[in-house]
Formats: sequence, structure tokens, C-alpha cells
Amino acid sequence: VLDWYARFAEGQPGALVVEATGIRDIPSGPLLRIGDDRFVPGLARLVDTMRRASGGRTRFYIQIIDFLAVRRRPEKATYFRRFFHLTDRHRALLRDVGGTDDDLLAHLALLPEEELDRILSRQEMEALRFGYRERVTDLDKPHIRELPRILPGIFAAAAVRARAAGFDGVELHYAHAYTMAGFLSALNTRTDGYGASRPARARLPLEVYRAVRDAVGAGFTVGCRYLTDECIDGGSTPDDAEYFGVEFARAGMDFLSVSRGGKFEDAKQPKVGWAAYPYTGQSGWECMPTVLGDERGPFGRNVLASGRVRRAVRDAGLQTPVVVSGGIHGFDQAEAILAEGHADVIASARQSLADPDWFLKMRLGRGAQVRRCVFTNYCEGLDQMHKQVTCKLWDRLDLDQPGARLASDGKRRLTAPPSAVTRLQPSSIADDVAGRRKAMRIKIVGGGPAGLYFAILMKKQDPRHEIVVFERDGPDDTFGWGIVFSDRTFSYLRESDEPSYRAIVDRCETWDNVEVVHRGQAVTIHGNKFAGVGRLRFLKALHERSAGLGVDLRFHTNVQDMGPANGYDLLVGADGARSLVRQAFEASFEPTIDWRRNRYIWLGTHRRFEALTLTFREDEAGLFAAHSYRFSPSLSTFIVECGEETWNRAGFDSKSEEETCRYLERVFREDLRGQPLLTNNFVRWLRFALVANRRWSHGNVVLIGDALHTA
Ligand SMILES: Cc1cc2nc3c(=O)[nH]c(=O)nc-3n(C[C@H](O)[C@H](O)[C@H](O)COP(=O)(O)OP(=O)(O)OC[C@H]3O[C@@H](n4cnc5c(N)ncnc54)[C@H](O)[C@@H]3O)c2cc1C
Ligand SMILES: Cc1cc2nc3c(=O)[nH]c(=O)nc-3n(C[C@H](O)[C@H](O)[C@H](O)COP(=O)(O)O)c2cc1C
Ligand code: SF4
Repeated sequence: VLDWYARFAEGQPGALVVEATGIRDIPSGPLLRIGDDRFVPGLARLVDTMRRASGGRTRFYIQIIDFLAVRRRPEKATYFRRFFHLTDRHRALLRDVGGTDDDLLAHLALLPEEELDRILSRQEMEALRFGYRERVTDLDKPHIRELPRILPGIFAAAAVRARAAGFDGVELHYAHAYTMAGFLSALNTRTDGYGASRPARARLPLEVYRAVRDAVGAGFTVGCRYLTDECIDGGSTPDDAEYFGVEFARAGMDFLSVSRGGKFEDAKQPKVGWAAYPYTGQSGWECMPTVLGDERGPFGRNVLASGRVRRAVRDAGLQTPVVVSGGIHGFDQAEAILAEGHADVIASARQSLADPDWFLKMRLGRGAQVRRCVFTNYCEGLDQMHKQVTCKLWDRLDLDQPGARLASDGKRRLTAPPSAVTRLQPSSIADDVAGRRKAMRIKIVGGGPAGLYFAILMKKQDPRHEIVVFERDGPDDTFGWGIVFSDRTFSYLRESDEPSYRAIVDRCETWDNVEVVHRGQAVTIHGNKFAGVGRLRFLKALHERSAGLGVDLRFHTNVQDMGPANGYDLLVGADGARSLVRQAFEASFEPTIDWRRNRYIWLGTHRRFEALTLTFREDEAGLFAAHSYRFSPSLSTFIVECGEETWNRAGFDSKSEEETCRYLERVFREDLRGQPLLTNNFVRWLRFALVANRRWSHGNVVLIGDALHTA
């Protein structure tokens, strides 16, 4: 799985959606799973692997899915012996046969299908011919009745795990043949307020979305994939899709990804011992069309319906992006879809499998080198048989290449062989891409870590960009003392820019333990690698690196006019948690700021803390916590935090800086070992602002760093 997704990520698409991943803690074929916390470390490895492979240029989402039971098609005799439930209705219809229930079952097992058709219900016949399949309308079954009660919680828990694993967002699977699509379906006749009318069919999908949003907050991307058309008799149509799209967008989803078809209702009868597969009938063909089909061919069959959904959403005054997929096979076609307003984002499944580098080749202007999908669905056939999915265009090539991993049948390679493009060094890819891209004039408001690092990365990507950073303070001013980084953060810094990474690590103090002091008792936990660096030294390293790359740093410049970015192609709000850029475009970013109640003050001390230390101390005013760590051979950060009541009781509102330090020195007497607490320029008690925004961009204005979200 890691190789497979790393290969896609190397192509550096804008976003990558990891395949349908089960939200319950039950296995199902080769399905990826996210139904328990034990899956988080594995998924985190996946995200890490993809991020490295993409050089940080791709956003990663995971599709989360719930599905109902589908059993294999049984032998006829087995069906009547083990699965069939004989009722009075059957007994009445078999009156003439007579005998015990066992006699009746034996008789049924011998009847031809035409006869059985008369005696068995539609669902019983289906269970015999296709294998038993649950539906959302089976209200006689308690676990199906209860779906609206349990699904919001398990989707939300899965989304929280996705966030913990490092994904940028989730795609709720509301499409094809699975539970949530069952609720949206026009065939959903549930009578409990979750079926029949359009609003009732949309109710659970909206409740699931709200539960997920509540659990993950505004800063995490949440969208869904759903159908523009079920492509089955009596199924939902593009009219339904317009309605659902507007409701989802209105509820606040970040994107709508539209697919079509892929239903069980018209699936082919499976062989005995196999389960039905929803992509074998006409609706399946509409979902993943092959060249062996109708005269319209497999190309862009979902585009018009996608355009309808997008227009309906725009007419409702919403800007939610619409993602379209389905046989989009070429650059000109994709560009035309975007230009004509049928969609905002193009998604590609099979073409990406056929050539995981096609995104990169396009950007490099090497479209002629793209290995083009021939849309015959060999890959999908493998998926149907629960075999490892590969593409026929490359899975037999260079099998003996060193490092090529083979499928379990030993006959196919699992990932595409590297192409000429991926054999280029990353820097030459960047040069090549840059050569074809327009250089930009970029105005960055705020010269904190986010603004400076962004300037560095943009300059690295294309030295022709003209970048100006406006910073209201001077080059030697900063608030706070030292900051800490985990070794994971360091690995990101290293991957993104080795020279600034080197300059930062050279100035760091490192340790591998965390210490907690509670009621005077210290507990040390090893194996947590951290490093501390003076905030000013850290900023200095970024000043030097960005200036060296040609970034224009303008200190002592307080930007107050946040009007349109006159003369600039891009205005970047990197102006921290209290961002003015964000305030200027509040209506578009839709920020939420949650001021936490605790107070904290950022102090320093010469007492050398050997670990990242969390100390709890109590006095007559209440409980205090100190977060302390060294960041130079002779200095440590000492951040003190307390509740509002404690803060009031201690009377800090009327204490001077000096009195505050003396008071806290008394509280943490034992921990400071006689060393005084130190202040610098900006010392005062603060409350932490939890910042989130519904959107991160508005036209050519973007927010980054704390202006966008605080941690
Ligand atoms: C107590 C505390 C401890 C922390 N410890 C750590 C830690 O150990 N490790 C860690 O990784 N993170 C830590 N953080 C978080 C970290 O400080 C922030 O995430 C980081 O500083 C955000 O960088 P930024 O560039 O987005 O914003 P800021 O650092 O806030 O920078 C914004 C810059 O914009 C400038 N500016 C603002 N308005 C204007 C204007 N109108 N015109 C011109 N300039 C303007 C400001 O002067 C400032 O320099 C801590 C935060 C707090 C509050
Ligand atoms: C091997 C394979 C696996 C797929 N897995 C998923 C999936 O997990 N979730 C999903 O929504 N669609 C899945 N699809 C469907 C695709 O997302 C897409 O809708 C379909 O293939 C049509 O787009 P295309 O022409 O770009 O391939 C899969 C398709 C293929 C071929
Ligand atoms: S096997 Fe390859 S060429 Fe064939 S449909 Fe799948 S991705 Fe396209």
C-alpha cells in the first residue's frame, strides 16, 4: 500500500484521495480500515510516505465508507438448508405438498427457478440467485433501523482518526452501492423520517456531516462523494443531485465530488461462491465506462450532470468546489470542462493508474509522453476478484528490475516502472516546471515563521518570483523566548529546505525526555526527541536564508491598508493569530476564534532544564502549570499557565512585571533553584486564541500560519 500510494504521490497531483476505507472495526476483503485507534499509526505512516514522495506538493484526503452485509451466492441446497426462513406464507403456498418443514425445504431445493419465483419473495429470490444483501430499507432488522443513531458517531470517530494520522481531510463516501448512497437513493422508502422524500433522504447524510464537522472543527477539510445519477430504474436522477448538492454545500461541506452509477440493483448474477459486484451491470458501466460499450464511448459521461450540480450550488450563492470524474482522458478535455464551468476540479482514477506521472508530465509540457489508459477495465476486473490491482499497460514490464515488487501471483509488478520524468532529480523537475510557469509578484504581510518560510519555499520553486515581506517589528525584536520542535517537524524542515534546516539545528539544544513534576514528584519519560531554539535565533536563520534567496525584507513596516493587492499577484496573510488580512476579508474566510479561558505568560530563566518539563505547583490562589525547556546553553523558556479564577485571586491584573515575576518565583521556588524569572519586550499575560477558518483563500488572497489556524 505504501509503495502504491508513494508512486501516485511522486506524480504530485494537487490532491490524492486514498481509496474507500472502512469505518467499522470489521474486516472485509482487502479493504483498508480506520475503525479503531490501532489503525492510526499505520495510516500516519501512509501519510508520511506520501508527503515525502510528493515533496509536500500534494494534499491528502481519505475516503471513509460504511457498507452493509453482502453474502456470497449460495448453492441452492445450502440456501434452503442454512439461510432460508420458512414462514406461514410459504407453508400456505405449499399446502398441496404436505409433510414436515424439512420435507417442504427439501421440496423447494428441487424446484426450478420459475416455480420458486411464485413462492419466494423478491428478496428471497435475490438471496438465492445473487447471495443475500442488506438494504437500508430493511427496517425489520434492529441494526438497520438503528443506522441513523450509530452512523454519525462512527463516521466522526473515523474522521478524528484521519486527522490524527495527518490527513488534510476526509471524503465521506455517499456514492455507489454503499450505506450512505442507500439513504440518498430514490429507492429508499424508509418510513422513519430517513427515507421517501428528498429532505428525508438527505437527512442522515447531513447529520453524519455535522457530526464529523463538530468532531474535527473548521480547519479540517470535509467533503463527500455522491452520485449525479444512480443510472438504475427508479433511481435518483440529476434533479435529485442538484438538490443534494445545494443542501450539502449549504451545510458547509468543503467540496462535492460527483460520480455516477455503480449499483447492486442491476449487477450481473455472480457465480456460485462469489458475491455480487456493483460494477457489472449498466450502472457499473456508467461509473467506470469501457470502450466496449456505446457509441458515446467512455469519455466524460458525468460532465453535464456535474455542471448542473455546480450551477445549482452557485445559484444558491455558494462557492463550494465541484470535483468531476469518469473517463476524463486528456488535457484539452479537462481544460474545457473547467473553462465551461462544469466543474472546478478534475479527478482521475484509471488514467492515474495507467500513468501515475501524468500530472507531472502535463505540468512539464510533456503530454506526448503520457501512457494513456485504454479503458478496458482489466484493473477493475482484478479489483472485483479481490486481487491486487495493477494496470495491463505496465504490470508485465521489467519484472526483473531491482526493487520491483511483484503481486502475490508472482506474475505482475505492483507499481509502474519509473518513467524518464521521475528519473529527473527533484530540483530539475522544479526548474523545468518553473520554466513554464509565470513568475509572480507576492506581498507577504508578517515576517514570522510562516511568512518567512513561505517566502523561502516560493523563491526555491522559482527564483523569478518578486517577494516582499512586510514586518512591523525590527529584525531583532521578538516576543517569547525559546520554542521547541519535535524530530518529526525537523524532518519536514529538512526535506523542504536543507540550508535553513542546517542553520536552525546548529542553534538548537536537544534532548530525548519529557519530565512531568506533580506534587513534587518528577516522572521522566524517555524516547521523545525534541529540540529547543531561541525564537529570535530561529527567525534570524530564516531572515538570512530568505534574504540570501533574494526576498525583500522590509522591517518596521506596519501594513494597515489591506485593500486589494494592488500590483501584486498574490497577497499572503502571515500576520499571526490576530491577523488583519483575515479581518479585512472576514466574510470570505469565515473565521472562528475561540478564546481559551486560561492565562499564560511567556518568561525566561537561566535555570537549565534538562528535559521538556511540565511542572504543577499550587499556592493559596490555586493551581499553576509551567512548561519549561532550555533553548541555549544558559537559557530556558518558562511559560506559566493558570485558570482565570487563580489569576484573579492572585491579583495579577494589578501587578507590575516585576511583581509578577517575584510572585511566580515563589510558586516555583523549588523548580527554579534560586534563579530569577526574566522578561523581554512583550511580556504580559495572554489567553490562547484557537483560530480556524472555513476557507484559506479568497481570490488572490491566502492565509497561512497562525492567521489560518493555531495549533
Ligand atoms: C506561548 C506559546 C508557545 C509556543 N511554543 C511553540 C513551540 O515551542 N514550538 C512551535 O512550533 N510553536 C510554538 N508556538 C506557536 C508558534 O509561535 C506559532 O505557531 C508561530 O509563531 C506562527 O507563526 P506565524 O508566522 O504564523 O505568526 P507569528 O509568529 O505571530 O508572526 C506574525 C508576524 O506578523 C507581524 N505582523 C502582524 N501584523 C502585521 C501588520 N499589520 N503588518 C506587518 N507585520 C505584521 C508580527 O509582528 C509577527 O512578526 C507557541 C505559541 C505560543 C503562544
Ligand atoms: C481499481 C479501481 C478502484 C476504485 N476504487 C474506488 C474507491 O475506493 N472509491 C470510489 O469512490 N471510487 C472508486 N473507483 C471509481 C473511480 O473513483 C472513478 O469513479 C471511476 O473509475 C471513473 O473514473 P475514471 O474514468 O477516471 O477511472 C475505483 C475505480 C477503479 C478502476
Ligand atoms: S488496466 Fe490500465 S489501461 Fe486498462 S483500464 Fe485500467 S488503468 Fe486503464
